[in-house]
Amino acid sequence: MADLSCDFAGIRSPNPFWIASGPPSNTAHQAHRAFEAGWGGVVWKTIGQPIVNVSSRYSAMDLGSQRMVGFNNIELITDRSAEANFREIAEVKRRWPEHAVIASLMLESREEWREFIARATDAGADGLELNYGCPHGMCERGMGSAVGQQPAVLERITGWAMEFARIPVIVKLTPNITDITMSARAARRAGANAISLINTINSITNVDLDSFVPEPRVGSLSAHGGYCGPAVKPIALNMVQCCAGDPEVGLPISGIGGISSWRDAAEFIALGAGSVQVCTAVMHYGFRIVHAMKEGLNEYLDSKGMTGLDDLRGRAVARVVPWETLDLSFKRVARIDHATCIGCNLCYAACEDGAHQCIDLVDPDSIGAGLGPGRVPFKAIPKVREHDCVGCNLCACVCPVDGCIEMHEVATGSPPMSWEQYQSRLVNGEVPPIPPHA
Ligand SMILES: Cc1cc2nc3c(=O)[nH]c(=O)nc-3n(C[C@H](O)[C@H](O)[C@H](O)COP(=O)(O)O)c2cc1C
Ligand code: SF4
Ligand code: SF4
Repeated sequence: MADLSCDFAGIRSPNPFWIASGPPSNTAHQAHRAFEAGWGGVVWKTIGQPIVNVSSRYSAMDLGSQRMVGFNNIELITDRSAEANFREIAEVKRRWPEHAVIASLMLESREEWREFIARATDAGADGLELNYGCPHGMCERGMGSAVGQQPAVLERITGWAMEFARIPVIVKLTPNITDITMSARAARRAGANAISLINTINSITNVDLDSFVPEPRVGSLSAHGGYCGPAVKPIALNMVQCCAGDPEVGLPISGIGGISSWRDAAEFIALGAGSVQVCTAVMHYGFRIVHAMKEGLNEYLDSKGMTGLDDLRGRAVARVVPWETLDLSFKRVARIDHATCIGCNLCYAACEDGAHQCIDLVDPDSIGAGLGPGRVPFKAIPKVREHDCVGCNLCACVCPVDGCIEMHEVATGSPPMSWEQYQSRLVNGEVPPIPPHA
C-alpha cells in the first residue's frame, strides 16, 4: 500500500485530502466528523471581524440530470465569534493531534493581523491560510480579492503576516486576475511558505425570466457571487500548472477547485499540488466521499509502482509547453467502432457543421459493419474519411458511447516541426506555405 502521508510546507497530515475553508469547516462538530470520516486536514472557515450573512446565499448550475455542476455563493467569512472559533480549533487539535488544522484568516489592519495570528497560534493551529480570494462582500471593504488582485498589496500584507507568524503561512489566491503567477510571485517575494488556489470565480449562474432577479435572491435583488464545483476544475488545473511551472513561484501548492474524486486529486497532484482541498463536493455528498478518494488514490499509486505522493507530484507539469513548440507533423484521426455505435449521428452533425466535413453517412452493408443480434438496423452509418480528418477530437467529444470513437495516431511521413521551425523554414523557402497534411 502506498504511503499517503503528507508534509505540506511543514504541515503534516495523514493524507493530502483537506476540507477547504467554507461551510463544511465552520465548527468543531464538523471538523470531528471530517476527521472521523478520514480527512487529513481541515482549513477552518475564514475567521475575521464580525460580519452578517444574507439569506439566501447559494445557487447552482445544473446540466440535465446532473445537479450542481457549478455552484455559486454570496456568503462571507464566518458569522461566528472569533472566540468560539479559536476555542473550537484548540478543542479539535487536542483530540486530533496527528491531523492538520489550518486557520484561515481575513483581516484589515496590521494590528488585527498581529492579534489574530497570535490567537490562531495559541489555539494550536498547524498553519495559517491568508484568504485574499473572496470575490464578494469582503473586497468592497478592501479585503479578500481586493488584496489578491493587486500583487503589491498582497505582498505588503503577506509581509506583515510573515513578520508575526511562527507557523507555516499559506497564501490563498483568487482566480479573478489575468495572470495568477503575478500574485503567486508576490507571495513568494513576501516570504510565504506556500500558496493555495483557487478561490471562487466571479459569477451569476442564472436569471429568473419572470422577476429578472438572479439566484440567490435577497428580496428583489441579487449580487455577484463566487463560482466553484466540478465546472471550475479545468480553470483551477490550468492555474495550478502555471504556478507549478514558474520557477519564480517555487512554492508548495495546495490545489483547490472542483475536486470530488481520487482521479481529480491525482490530476492536481500530477500538475504540482502537494495537498488538495475540497468544498463543494462535501457540501453535495458529505464527508464520506473521502473514503473512496483515499482508496482510489492508493490503488492508483500501487498500480503505477509509486510508493508515495512524491512519486506522482509534478509528473505532468513539464508536459504542458508553449503552443509554438508543439509538433505540427504529429497527426491523429478518428476511428469509429461500428460494433458499439448506436447510430445517433451526433458525430456526423458535429463534423459536418462544426468541424471539417469528413464523416460520411454510408450504407452499413457497403463497409461490412455487421450489427449484433437484437440491434436496430441502421439505414446509414457514419464513416470517417481519414485522409481529410484533421484529428480535432470533436466527434469523440460528442459521441455518447464510451470508447466508440477513438483517436489513432497515424504516420505522416514528415519529420517533427514546431511552429517556430515552420516559420523560419517558410522564410527560407524550405517548406510550402501550409503544413503538408493540413
Ligand atoms: C459557500 C462557500 C463558502 C466559502 N467560504 C470560504 C471562506 O470563508 N474562505 C475561503 O477561503 N474560501 C471559501 N470558499 C471557497 C472554497 O474554499 C474553495 O476555494 C472553492 O469553493 C473551490 O473549491 P470547490 O470547487 O471544491 O468548492 C467558500 C466556498 C463556498 C462554496
Ligand atoms: S476528429 Fe474532427 S475532423 Fe476528424 S472526423 Fe472527428 S470531427 Fe471530423
Ligand atoms: S456519435 Fe458515436 S454513437 Fe453516435 S453515430 Fe457517431 S459514432 Fe455512433
